[in-house]
Parts: sequence; C-alpha cells; structure tokens
Amino acid sequence: MKGIILAGGLGSRLKPLTLVTNKHLLPVYDRPMIYYPIQCMVNAGIKDILIVTGGEHAGDFLKLLKNGKQLGVHHLEYAYQEGEGGIADALKLAEEFADGGKICVILGDNIIEKNVRRAAGDFFTQRSGAKILLKQVPDPQRFGVVRFESDGGPGSKIIEIIEKPQNPSSDYAVTGLYFYDNDVFEICRTLKPSARGELEITDVNNAYMARGDLTHDILDGWWTDAGTFESLYRAAQFVAEGGANHVGEGSKTPSLFAART
Ligand code: G1P
Repeated sequence: MKGIILAGGLGSRLKPLTLVTNKHLLPVYDRPMIYYPIQCMVNAGIKDILIVTGGEHAGDFLKLLKNGKQLGVHHLEYAYQEGEGGIADALKLAEEFADGGKICVILGDNIIEKNVRRAAGDFFTQRSGAKILLKQVPDPQRFGVVRFESDGGPGSKIIEIIEKPQNPSSDYAVTGLYFYDNDVFEICRTLKPSARGELEITDVNNAYMARGDLTHDILDGWWTDAGTFESLYRAAQFVAEGGANHVGEGSKTPSLFAART
C-alpha cells in the first residue's frame, strides 16, 4: 500500500510563524513536523510515499527531505497543489501515484504515538471502501466528529460525520489518518466546496459511509494535530515526554528517538 502525506495549506492559524515557512516544516520538539507522519508510515511498513504540498515554500521540502532515505523511505515523490482547495482537493493530485491501488493518507500536522501497522494490515484485508481511526478528545468542536447509531458509542455503527460541529454528538474525533480504496478519486471528483470554500475530507468519509463501506477503529496511544498554537505546544510536550512512533511492535525501522535516549 502506498502512502500520501498532505502538507499544503496556508497554516493561517499559526501566523506569523507560517509567513516565512510551511506549517509542516515548523519544529515539533527536536525535528520538523513533517518527519512524524513520514515516520508513522515507515514504521507501519509503508515506504512508497507522496508528499502533496504547495505555496512559496514548497521547495524547502526537497531541501529538507531529499529522497527520504535518511528516514527509511524507499521512494519519495512530491506533488504541488495550486491554490487552497482543501484536503480532498489536495488528495486528487495523488491519483496517478496511487496507480489503481489502496492508499494510506495522513494529514501532515497529525502526530501519532503508536505504530499503526495493525490498522494498515486490517485495511489491507478489507475488501473495499475506507477505514478511519477515531480518538476521544476534550474539544471535538475542532474536528470532524462522528455520530454513532442510537448514540451507542464506539462499538456502534457510524451514521454521520460532521465537520467542526458547534454541538458535537459525541466526543470521538476523526483523526487525520485515513485508508481508502481507489474509488476515493472518483468520490473526490463529485464533491462540492463546503461553506469554508474547501473540498472536505469529511465529505469523502460520508460518501463511503453512505455506500455502507466505511469501517472504523479507535487509535491507540496519544494523538494530536499541531495546527494551532495550543496543539503545536501540546505536540511538542507529548513528544518530549514520550516520543512518537517508537519502534517495537514488529517494526524493523530504527526509531527516530533512539539517538536521544
Ligand atoms: C482536518 C479535518 C478534520 C479532522 C482533522 C484532524 O481538520 O477536516 O475532519 O478531524 O483534520 O486533524 P483541519 O486541520 O483542516 O481543521
């Protein structure tokens, strides 16, 4: 399975930091933010990776990551997103790279503690559709949030996903780690921009849900985004205290943190 990291956007919630660089190149504790989603994929055995970025600092990704070998990536590609069409718009650029196969997508500002190899393996054996990973959060208004059938909790079926709801129907956020079959590109083509003028990843997930082809799981360990000052600070604290994407759990990739401990 190939991996796609979405690392575009203006990072407007992190101005003025993002006036001079891309959000995903900002430091989270002792390394650039983009290292974490890359390491997450590599640890899960996904080593053929496309980074979708944009804006005037896009060239800095190449300077920093080169061909990705130092992070254990076998093959690294880059795609350039024109404009600010949203997450699902950025994903459209990955169609050729995906080459008809299943994909794992991570939002470049998501930092995940544990190895996601098991979820990737589960999706690999899933016949078709999509898989999302959920996490209980204290501030669901900031995320895509699921509604469970009969408000039954995480063991129940998802009946709706609402992007940044004012009155969330659960405290389970949809994390920025998604698994899709190749139909995702056809779904992206049918989307209409949301009120914020973007093609929403939540609409992609709702489309799979409407087809009855969306599975979910709860993400183990801690997880955070890093797109606001509070979450960027929290991400650095999590990493400083516990590391992220430690090896173990079957991965043969050297831990990014090995040298530090
Ligand atoms: C995006 C998605 C949202 C998801 C979140 C995870 O939000 O739209 O559904 O819960 O990532 O980080 P954004 O970062 O664009 O606010």
